[in-house]
Amino acid sequence: MQILILGNGGREHALAWACSKDPSVQRVFVAPGNAGTAQEAKCSNVSMNPLDAQEIIAFVQQQDIDLTLIGPEAPLVAGVSDALRAAGLAVFGPSQAAAQLEGSKSYAKAFMSRHGIPTAGYRVFQELSPALAWLQTHPLPVVIKADGLAAGKGVVVAATLTEAQAAVRSMLEDNRFGQAGASVVIEEFLPGEEASFIVVSDGVHALPLATSQDHKRIGEGDTGPNTGGMGAYSPAPVVTALLHEKIMETVIYPTLRGMAAEGHPYSGFLYAGLMISPDGQIAVVEFNCRLGDPETQPILLRLQSSLPGLLQAALKQQLDQVSIHWDPRPALGIVLAAPNYPDTPVLGELITGLNHPDPEDVKTFLAGVRLEHQQCFTAGGRVLCVTALGATVQQARTNAFGRIHQLGGAALYYRRDIGHRALDSQNS
Ligand code: AMP
Ligand code: GLY
Repeated sequence: MQILILGNGGREHALAWACSKDPSVQRVFVAPGNAGTAQEAKCSNVSMNPLDAQEIIAFVQQQDIDLTLIGPEAPLVAGVSDALRAAGLAVFGPSQAAAQLEGSKSYAKAFMSRHGIPTAGYRVFQELSPALAWLQTHPLPVVIKADGLAAGKGVVVAATLTEAQAAVRSMLEDNRFGQAGASVVIEEFLPGEEASFIVVSDGVHALPLATSQDHKRIGEGDTGPNTGGMGAYSPAPVVTALLHEKIMETVIYPTLRGMAAEGHPYSGFLYAGLMISPDGQIAVVEFNCRLGDPETQPILLRLQSSLPGLLQAALKQQLDQVSIHWDPRPALGIVLAAPNYPDTPVLGELITGLNHPDPEDVKTFLAGVRLEHQQCFTAGGRVLCVTALGATVQQARTNAFGRIHQLGGAALYYRRDIGHRALDSQNS
């Protein structure tokens, strides 16, 4: 089998690595890929734009690719999966219409209201003055979100009215996010603990992946600005067996039934970002139409089943006939970011130590890394994610630190406290 993966992040390196482990896979192409996918066994990078459906179709036909897997949201929201399907090609990823669950926050909120899926109360505004007037009456904190895709940067949790007003102005007046911010969702702040709940869906059936939690803030103790994600671990202790069942019954199945009933059956990875209140209430903070980054890295390190096998079962709408096996040990991934991420990361610096082989139970997934004459240079805000298994979360973190200490050169930044919630829950 030959597989094509679209994307170039740490998530795509993990996907390519997981696919390449299946003995029935001969070749994994990654477009455009990164230095990690360039060096992985059986994998090669292809210089193609993941948004250029025609170029991708031509490549898939020419190379006889059996399955295309779309990693990031942008090609999904742009309809690349629809174009491949229309050309008769096997592609794993939701349609453009279904990807609106991530592509438009106002669409997702209205969909959840129509189907009774728990989420924060909200209003949508396109005009500045009614939005500012609404803020005057709204309790604090309040959450302001650009409607469209904004690479994780379009959400402001405002603790003061001044911050909330500035966020609304930046989106509706200064067009900080362009068209993506021409409409804003203002929603109620939900207290609690977040968890990432990701399922594979074939449009009818849903198979949950192992649970996970990520750390979105740049600073230790979960402080400072939001980022794409500074680390993640799996499983998420906050998702107890009881909550797991409740999430399937109140969020996942109603979403899949609702999308099918509205004529947009959802097939692909569905990521529900959840807030779990101290008394165990669940609310959807966001939907993503893809796997999380960096959640994918620890999740796939624990996956013992064949990933391509799973995707093929989904394409045949036979997910009810498969089960997934997980390494029972926890996995934890620590993201190393370029200096000054997330504002204006310093790029182009040499990273040393990546040529050391990873120790057992550790895997270094590369993201913003460029390979030049066999040397690695920083080429993106999030540079890599050192991911490790361990008998405990603490041990997984120690194993990851061991590998991180072998790296040198660029002054990469990372958080030392990834997994603190899981550790707290173990100690409590
Ligand atoms: P989103 O892109 O919608 O996931 O938002 C990014 C982050 O902002 C989330 O992961 C939460 O940490 C935070 N957030 C978003 N919406 C809310 C909310 N209604 N209440 C509390 N925190 C939120
Ligand atoms: N780690 C959060 C995301 O992938 O959206």
